[in-house]
Order: sequence, then structure tokens, then C-alpha cells
Amino acid sequence: MDWSPDSWRSRRARHIPTDYPDPAALAAVEAELSTYPPLVFAGEARTLRRALAQVARGEAFLLQGGDCAESFKEFHPNNIRDTFRVMLQMSVALTFGAGVPVVKVGRIAGQFAKPRSEPTETRDGVTLPSYRGDNINGMEFDERVRAPDPQRLLKSYGQAAATLNLIRAFATGGYADLHNVHKWNLEFVSDNPQGDRYSHLADRISETLTFMEACGITAEEVRPLREVEFFTSHEALLLGYEQAMTRIDSTTGRWYDTSAHLVWIGDRTRQLDGAHVEFCRGIENPIGVKCGPTLAPDELLRLLDILDPENDPGRIVLIARFGADNVSSGLPPLVKAVRKAGRQVVWSSDPMHGNTIKTESGVKTRRFEAILSEVGSFFDVCRAEGAIPGGVHFEMTGQNVTECLGGAYQISEEELASRYHTHCDPRLNASQALELAFILADRLKSARDGSGSA
Ligand code: PEP
Ligand code: CO
Repeated sequence: MDWSPDSWRSRRARHIPTDYPDPAALAAVEAELSTYPPLVFAGEARTLRRALAQVARGEAFLLQGGDCAESFKEFHPNNIRDTFRVMLQMSVALTFGAGVPVVKVGRIAGQFAKPRSEPTETRDGVTLPSYRGDNINGMEFDERVRAPDPQRLLKSYGQAAATLNLIRAFATGGYADLHNVHKWNLEFVSDNPQGDRYSHLADRISETLTFMEACGITAEEVRPLREVEFFTSHEALLLGYEQAMTRIDSTTGRWYDTSAHLVWIGDRTRQLDGAHVEFCRGIENPIGVKCGPTLAPDELLRLLDILDPENDPGRIVLIARFGADNVSSGLPPLVKAVRKAGRQVVWSSDPMHGNTIKTESGVKTRRFEAILSEVGSFFDVCRAEGAIPGGVHFEMTGQNVTECLGGAYQISEEELASRYHTHCDPRLNASQALELAFILADRLKSARDGSGSA
């Protein structure tokens, strides 16, 4: 294979800034990063591939979620803890509903760089480069802050390392004990204005746990009840950083991007002859591909030929992001083509990026109902086309922000301003994310019981 970690450099690279004031300083930082310890171990990425192969066969369910963009400002142990905690809470509900293990993948510990629709932003007649994520430039509308700064790469590496360290501690240090997580879920149900809607499922889980305990299946005895596996992911956008983190795995002699377990290619950078596809084809990590309305079925098949020539289940996660109004018409041709080609992939639903709207006062937001509706249609399309709806992909946070409209607390347009903190797209808050998980869990359960469609 004619590939090397830097072979992407001869291809067109969209959404990567070319205006670093001092390119030599950038090269020096990348060289320094390439000597830093890997953030993840190749064996863990292989474990994730095996878990995703189970998802592709319908034997597990994928939950991917986290910030649209991590930021230096929101870097705080409580934020990491709360996002991790909500993901665990969602997983318990979904495990019960789907009746299979949930593979947990955070958009965390490296999700910094953002593709932007406009390269520049103009305010009051002043035009500056757009904000592109904290590992590139700063959000403040100031000429110096908006200039790309390579030192930010070192800072984001440090933040990713510390974040991952805390997640690993939580995952195995006792925090993730199933009984704890279920207790949080009971609190969520009792506090939530629409708690009645979720109490049936929560009570069934309580019953099951009591029964298991009576049978001697306890957290002290059984490791999976007190520990979880948690994987990290981000968009492989800033390829200089990804290249610096790409190393040969001494066990297999193959290349792995050690910046995260899974990386994905965004909807704006999936050109067949582009730099991002070139980079991702050569690494052994599982690869996500965002699939939006502009992706033609045969383009998708050619992408799969490039990225997954061996048709290995667990290698590819196709993340559909059409929007609630377009998914029923846009997704079927893709699912059909993939199935007809005998391709073994994971199909997942990102119900966020096709449902972004602007309020009259110009605030970017998303409606809870549109998000729920897109996931529902995604499940319907997959089932109708004989594919497995394998997972969901959410932009969410454990914090009580007001960025998306609706949900049980009925966040209104007027309230958006009160706690709108995102550095990029609007996220579900902890309650909205859990509400979605409970509703989906209920539907998955009904579909399994044959009493309804998910
Ligand atoms: C994202 O996931 O934050 C994103 C930019 O998505 P997409 O590439 O699907 O637009
Ligand atoms: Co986003």
C-alpha cells in the first residue's frame, strides 16, 4: 500500500488552516508532538473494532456522544465527570431497552478542531478568520486571538491526556458501579417533570438488579457490574496533529492513530481524492464517516472501497446526519446500496447536524422533537431496508445548559440565552440527553417484544 502518515500532504486538504503566521513553528510543534506518549494503545483500538463488529451484527448497540467542540475554558474535572456520568446513565437505559451491551464512545479527549462554513467572520465592518476550535485559534473576536497558534496543539494534547486519565480512573475505580448509575437514574426520574413517562423502565431495571443481587450476582463478584469500557473519538480534521500522533504498533507492525480509539471523517472533508480520506485509509483505527444529503450512493461505495478494502465489520461506522425532514428520503438509497454491495458496516444516527436552526434573534439551536424524530425515522429506514440500526451519535454535555429547545423542561427561545456555553453547535443538556435515552430504550424494548416499532 502506497501510504505513509504524511501522504495526505500531497492531496487537497479542506478545512485545515494554511495561514499559520510562522509555518516553521508549526512544524516544530508537530515534531515535538510526535515524540510524546500515545494517548491510546493500539490494542484498545482493536478491542473497539471487535465491539463494533458486534454492533454491525446486531449483538451490541453504539452510543457515541459528547461536546461539539471541547474548549480550554470548559476544561474542568466536573465537566468531564458529568458528561461521563450521563453517558453511563444513558447506557444503562439503552442496555435494558436493546437487550445487548452498549459500546460507549465519547466525543471527548481530543474533539477540538471544527470545520466552518465560512473561512472568515465579519463584525461591524471588521473581517477576521473564523474560529476553528481551541487547538487552532481562540473564539474572542480579536486579530491576535484569531490567528492560528501552534502552541495550542500542545495545550490540547495536555488537556486530552488529563481528560483521558480521569475517564480511565472513573471507568475502573468504582465510580461506574452499575448500582450507582442506576441510583442516579432513579433520581433523574423522580426529579423530572415527565418522570412518569420513564418510571416504568426504571422500575423494571430496579427489579432486575434486586433479582440479580438475590442470585449472588453482585458488583464485588462480577467485574462488568463495577467497571466499564469507555472509548474516545473525535473528528480527524487537523491532519498535522493526527499525523504526529500516528505510530507503528509494535505488536502488529501496523499504523495506528494514537490520538483516540476512533476517528471520523466529517461531512465536509470526505472527498474521495482528498487529504482526509487519504490519511484515514492508512490507519487501523475504526473510522467513522459522516453521511449527509450530498453523498451519492456510488460515492459512498467508492469511499468504502478505499477505507475498508477487506470489508471488515468493525472498521467502518456510517453516521447518517440528514435532518428530520430528509432522512426518510435521503437515507434509503445509501442503506440499499451498502447492503447490495454486501458491505458489513455499523449504521449510526447523528440527529444533530441536520437539525440545526437559527432563532429569529440569530441563535443556533436544535429542537428536541426534531432530534427524536430523526432517530425514529433512522430506525424505520434501517429496518425497512433490512439493515441494523446500530447506534446513535449525540452532541451533549453533562451540564445544565440551555442550548437545545424543548425536552421535559420545555426550554424556550427566550431561555436559550441564560446558559448558552457551547463553543460551536448547541448540545443536549444532561436531562435532555437522558430523556432521549429513556424514550429510545422504551422503543427498542417494544420493538424486541414485537409490540411496536422503534
Ligand atoms: C460534527 O460532528 O461536529 C460535525 C461538524 O459534523 P458533520 O461533519 O456531520 O457536519
Ligand atoms: Co457539531
